This record gives sequence, C-alpha cells and structure tokens, in this order.
Amino acid sequence: SYNLPTEFIGKKIVHFDTIGSTNDYAKEIGNKVRGGTLIISEQQTKGKGRLGRSWKSKSGDGIWMSLIIKPKIDPYKAPFLTLVAGASIVEALSNLGVDVLIKWPNDIILNNKKICGILTELSAEMERVNYIVIGIGINIKTLDFPNEIKEKATSLYKEGYKISRADIVRQFCIEFEKLYKGYILDDDKENTLDICRKHSAVIGKQVYIVKNNKKELVKCIDINENGNLIIKENNGDIKEIMSGEVSIRGI
Ligand code: BTN
Repeated sequence: SYNLPTEFIGKKIVHFDTIGSTNDYAKEIGNKVRGGTLIISEQQTKGKGRLGRSWKSKSGDGIWMSLIIKPKIDPYKAPFLTLVAGASIVEALSNLGVDVLIKWPNDIILNNKKICGILTELSAEMERVNYIVIGIGINIKTLDFPNEIKEKATSLYKEGYKISRADIVRQFCIEFEKLYKGYILDDDKENTLDICRKHSAVIGKQVYIVKNNKKELVKCIDINENGNLIIKENNGDIKEIMSGEVSIRGI
C-alpha cells in the first residue's frame, strides 16, 4: 500500500498488472467512482499519448497511472488542471532530489529529455464537468527507447536517479492535493503558475510552434493567468496560445 496521508487524492487505488490504457479504463468507470480515485497499471498494451500518438508502457519500466477527479468547475477551466498536474510532478520529484522542467503544457523534462507526459481528458455534458481524467506516464527504469524517440526520451534510472515508484506516487498525490484544493476551493492559480514559470523549459526561449502542420519560430514570453502561453511572433505580434492542439519543438 502507498500509505497516503491525503484526504481524497489516491485514497482509492485500482491496480492492474496489465490493461489497454489506464486513461481508457478511467473513462469507463469515471461516472461510478469517487473523485480522487487513482488507476495504476504495471503495463499498458495500448498506452496513449497526446495528439493520437502511442505511449510505450512496458512492465516495470515506469508509472502508468490515471487520476479521476470531479471538480465543480466550468469545462473551460479544465485544461489548467494539466498545469496543476505538471506542477505537482515538479514538486514531487523536487522533494525526492530531482530537478525537472515543464515544457508547456504537458511534458516534464530532465536533462533536456522527456521523462514524463500528461494526457488530460474531459467528460462534460451540458456545460458541466462529469469527471476529468489526468493520465500520467513517468519513465523510471526504461533504458532502451525505440529509435524514433531515443534522442528525445529518458528515464530517472538512465539519468542516475534510483527512486522508487511508490515514493513518487505518494509525493505526487500529496502535492497534487494541495495545488488542486487551492485551485478548486480558493481559485488560487498563483501557486501552480509560480511553479510552472520558475521551472519552465520554454519561457525566454525560441521554439517552433506546430499547428495544423504549419511550423512557426516564435519566442516564449510567459504563461498567463489562464495557463495559456504568451508568445512573440517574428513580426513582433504578441499572441496567446491555448494548450489544445499545438506542439512545441526545438528546445
Ligand atoms: C504525452 O506525452 O503525449 C502524454 C503521455 C501520457 C501517458 C500516460 S501513461 C498513463 C495514462 N494512460 C494512457 O494511455 N496515457 C497516459
């Protein structure tokens, strides 16, 4: 057991040896379980990444988990929870001695390579949130990555950090509960934004924004109150980007 001191995050954990995708399973049971329920699987046979990509999830290699939450918020406020999750991972790993950065909005970076991805899925009806699934994949022991991602991906072990999965899950639940309660109950975004800004892999950098197959070189300026990225285009125009369907390259 993870022996969690939390109030509701991770109070119920559903554990699998193998499953297609913890996110898909979370969506099957989302309406029936309490907010805070956490699904963890040793391996996934159909792990999903963002933008329709697949996510390698071999047995024992990492943390493949999905958290179901049921906040009473307007659906448009849901994407901010990806930042809450990212900030929680930064804090959790920092508590365990690992300094990571966030590549807005949903990648966690260690030594310039990705160790963690977040996939948030929303179920809403009639402008109301039924539940939100926050899927998190953290590479812990993976040493061999497929060729397509070899240059870009890493794991905690590969970078020399031997940390147990239970400790990370535990720290994540504790940190998430703090930031989540702040956001939902007190509309406190500052704590999350502070962490996202201080540990940003993109603010102050030139990056390529890829949208609908078009690639544009821009400079990242800040993350605003809504959790959107503020960028400066080549012609000097300042724009606000929502997390939706963009991807960022070249950091
Ligand atoms: C990304 O970086 O594209 C997001 C990756 C999210 C992977 C996690 S692993 C647990 C959960 N279940 C899934 O199928 N995907 C997420």
